[in-house]
Amino acid sequence: MKLRHYLQFSDFSRAEYEYLLERTRWIKAQFKQYKPYHPLVDRMLAMIFEKQSTRTRLSFEAGVQQLGGSALFLSTRDTQLGRGEPVEDMAQVVSRMVDIVMIRTFEQSLLERFAGVSRVPVINGLTNEYHPCQVLGDIFTFIEHRGPIGGKTVAWIGDSNNVCNTWMQAAAIFDFKLHVSTPPGYEVEAERAGIYGNDHYAHFADPMQAARGADLVTTDVWTSMGFEAEDAERKRDFSDWQVDADMMRLAGPGALFMHCLPAHRGEEVSADVIDGPHSVVWDEAENRLHTQKALMEFLLLGKIA
Ligand code: CP
Ligand code: NVA
Repeated sequence: MKLRHYLQFSDFSRAEYEYLLERTRWIKAQFKQYKPYHPLVDRMLAMIFEKQSTRTRLSFEAGVQQLGGSALFLSTRDTQLGRGEPVEDMAQVVSRMVDIVMIRTFEQSLLERFAGVSRVPVINGLTNEYHPCQVLGDIFTFIEHRGPIGGKTVAWIGDSNNVCNTWMQAAAIFDFKLHVSTPPGYEVEAERAGIYGNDHYAHFADPMQAARGADLVTTDVWTSMGFEAEDAERKRDFSDWQVDADMMRLAGPGALFMHCLPAHRGEEVSADVIDGPHSVVWDEAENRLHTQKALMEFLLLGKIA
């Protein structure tokens, strides 16, 4: 079987995503019926974290164990990576001892260097540039609630960060329109997202106009991990980019609200929106588990159905 990695959303084709979504539906149904499904017996996942996490660690660790495998948690603090061991050396060693690796780190280039010498599949568990596992779970969640996402409009309000870049890649693959509104100075760098041309993307100076008529409104923290030094400045710059009840009214009664979490109520989203009727954030968090189980199955076993 050819070695595959999942380093950014554009690593998979539309057909591969359709397969993954179908497998996710089946794997989730088994789980909900308490039916054991153990295709990954004796397989071990190493999870390397250079940043904090609740959902990503939980969903990968629980997910691989539910599939019959096991997980190892490694943090920078406890490994030689934190003392300057070259990432290529770490990749050589780790990938001789485990079957699959998930990494959460800062630069995408570090992840790519690891994958470049790894003998086993490597998954991006978030970098400064991308968070593909998040948007995979989000798209599955949208489809569960509203059916196919092709032709729909997704509004991204706030920072043009790792999750936004990933939505941009997803828009091209799933053929939906992404409306992005950021404060001046925080605009999307289309090249960074690997997007050329604007068939699936439109920038809006006014966040309310970006959200108007959207099928899904989504946002994220104003200050991502690794950018904490800019926090005070960002709080000032982003103050008009909050998703609130007025914005959701403009989106429309059927619009969904998503947030990858963790959220800051009163900053990027008001409490009445995240805790209100448009919000599907808990389904979104849960679906990380089911989609990533399908992802690990695919990377380790290939297409099985
Ligand atoms: N959404 C997400 O990736 O959450 P964690 O940072 O808790 O893993
Ligand atoms: N953009 C956020 C996502 C956290 C899951 C960050 O990178 O901190």
